[in-house]
Amino acid sequence: MKPPEAGGSSVDGIVRRALCPGSFDPVTNGHIDIINRAANLYDEVVVAVFVNESKSSLFDVDERLAMLTEVTEVYPNVTIDTFEGLVVDYCRVHDIPVIVKGLRAVSDFDYELQMAQMNRGLAGVDTLFMPTNPEYSFLASSLVKEIAKWGGDVTSLVPPNVLTRLKERTSATG
Ligand code: PNS
Repeated sequence: MKPPEAGGSSVDGIVRRALCPGSFDPVTNGHIDIINRAANLYDEVVVAVFVNESKSSLFDVDERLAMLTEVTEVYPNVTIDTFEGLVVDYCRVHDIPVIVKGLRAVSDFDYELQMAQMNRGLAGVDTLFMPTNPEYSFLASSLVKEIAKWGGDVTSLVPPNVLTRLKERTSATG
């Protein structure tokens, strides 16, 4: 059977879309692993940065979008966007029936299950949980920022473009 064309419609003419939402402050190798695997499963994947004015961030939204755009340019069926408000409203407007989330450990599960059930109840949007690659089971953007801030080596945790920006930012802020 002919494989579906990346970014186009699948063999039965139905375009299967998925959303990878998150803060991505900054994108890590763990996120990229999930985005990559989602891009292999779905015709179109939207990676959407949640704009949350009440949460302080190291990188502003434009910087996070730029880093995500750079690291996903190798995937022809992945696009980058932002959203404010409810994730299910973004899904409805863009006709996306499923959210893809990585699960690092059991500790992620309680909250992720709660959100998944709420999103399903609110708008019928399903959530697909992907077990994180064990290599990244400890990895979180917050830890990356903390380590980089104190001069630790995060080379193996983030892509090179993010590493460069982290070094610039942490040296600028001391
Ligand atoms: O990378 P994060 O910070 O863990 O991502 C969490 C995110 C943005 C995916 C989640 O907080 C979310 O979906 N927020 C959008 C607001 C919303 O829909 N909240 C209700 C969820 S039931």
